[in-house]
Amino acid sequence: RRWRKDELPETAEDDGASTIPELSEVAKACRRCPLWRNATQTVFGEGPDRAKVIFVGEQPGDQEDLAGKPFVGPAGKVFDAILDDAGVDRLKVYVTNAVKHFKFEPRGKRRIHSKPNAGEVQACRWWLDKELDLIKPNLAVALGATAAQSLLGKVVPIMKMRGTVVQRDDGLPVFVTIHPSFILRIREPANKQAERERFLQDMKAVKKLM
Ligand code: URA
Repeated sequence: RRWRKDELPETAEDDGASTIPELSEVAKACRRCPLWRNATQTVFGEGPDRAKVIFVGEQPGDQEDLAGKPFVGPAGKVFDAILDDAGVDRLKVYVTNAVKHFKFEPRGKRRIHSKPNAGEVQACRWWLDKELDLIKPNLAVALGATAAQSLLGKVVPIMKMRGTVVQRDDGLPVFVTIHPSFILRIREPANKQAERERFLQDMKAVKKLM
């Protein structure tokens, strides 16, 4: 739903944070949009302050929400395995999300992922911009449409653009690809394998750009 400005409590906006751990601490109190209300915690980005590459996903899922870490659930497992196959060390890159709270619909005991809307992505871009300012990466990787929209400020047709680099006005190159959960959702084995292979090729291209 849309929210009114007067529904939003003050958020921590301490600009003094000069490291990722400090920024992550400030983000725990984020009230920039209402998603904090139902989520367990803010799931901030993770990785070295001086990483050369920043990977941006959509938003934490159920397991990330509980663990407080990005990409540790099923999509994270796919992501990890393919990064490994491509020879990219996840510990050396920075991994974050466009939106830092889990948005979901309760269904019985389960919590079903629901897509963040443009206002939520916009509100949370404040944090992504801070991460980019601090880390100053040479390359950003947009994992899927939400990340691409947040990084590039416009709707990007992922299937048409995947595997290409789009330069931002500030000079940051953004490599566009699919979200790893896209592979998870494919049931037909041959198709799943083919999409996994395409994503692996994209990650190998990223490795070359690093
Ligand atoms: N999907 C995402 O986009 N991010 C996560 O952290 C987990 C799943």
